[in-house]
Amino acid sequence: MIDITAEISGVKLETCVFNAAGPKDATLKELEVIAKSASSAITMKSCTLEPRKGNPEPRYCDLPEGSINSSGLPNLGYKEYVRFSSLLKKYHKPVVASVSGLKLADNVKIIKVFNNSEADLIELNLSCPNVPGKPQVCYDFEQSEEVLDAITDVCKKPLGVKLAPYFDFAHFEQMAGILRKRKLAFITCINSIGNALVIDPDKESAVIKPKGGFGGLGGKYVKYTALANVRKFHELLPHVPIIGCGGIYSGKDAFEFILAGATAVQLGTVFIQEGPSCFGRIQKELKDYLKKKGYETLEDFRGKLKTLD
Ligand code: SIN
Repeated sequence: MIDITAEISGVKLETCVFNAAGPKDATLKELEVIAKSASSAITMKSCTLEPRKGNPEPRYCDLPEGSINSSGLPNLGYKEYVRFSSLLKKYHKPVVASVSGLKLADNVKIIKVFNNSEADLIELNLSCPNVPGKPQVCYDFEQSEEVLDAITDVCKKPLGVKLAPYFDFAHFEQMAGILRKRKLAFITCINSIGNALVIDPDKESAVIKPKGGFGGLGGKYVKYTALANVRKFHELLPHVPIIGCGGIYSGKDAFEFILAGATAVQLGTVFIQEGPSCFGRIQKELKDYLKKKGYETLEDFRGKLKTLD
């Protein structure tokens, strides 16, 4: 019997594979599709204080190996997601609230209300690259400290933080130093790689409309950056569970993330491109791969990546 269950801060996941905040998770109807799929948790769209229409369309484009989006946090406003967290309880899966207030006071207000909700985990999104005029908080280390101090003070649920990718060891260390000092239940690595530009040479045009065509890159293009971020944060913060996200399309991809140190994985672009069957397929592929390798649980190999030195 192959066991691919996972646990984050006492919250049990039937498997380590579930949906990422962002794709197809903004309405109750979309969330019910996730609830009825094999996804082992229901992550809701990142929410803001007020409802948002998001950026002008087209704001998402499939690419040969992934996607680009500049959605701009289209969501129904946090009150709806508090309500949905109760309505989704009947599916008996952990519900993950994703919070992305446009300013610190908004985040504090939203989190205080989620404290009394049915959400099981709260993922604070400090890494959305797509709100015009709003830099990604997690690239500003001083602001990140200020936000995390205020939020860890008020949050009564297991709190995690979703980070953008880092590319420099000094930045990994700086962020890890900040996270080490705060009580965090998990870290999610990574959000899309911000501000990529995809060009259609026939039309001589960008492929998405917002921000002059700049948007977050996802899918297979980002897998190796995501793996590096999971690995580095696992090395620097070995006791903090990491949820890996970015370019997971197969059971073998999920295996690589766990080998790098992830506790669980989230699916984003593949869910948009394949639909809800991706969850069961990737879980089965992961189990089959473990069986082939002679592993029985994720603990048999989690974080045990070999290096060549
Ligand atoms: C978006 O709504 O722009 C995507 C969410 C994110 O990147 O955090």
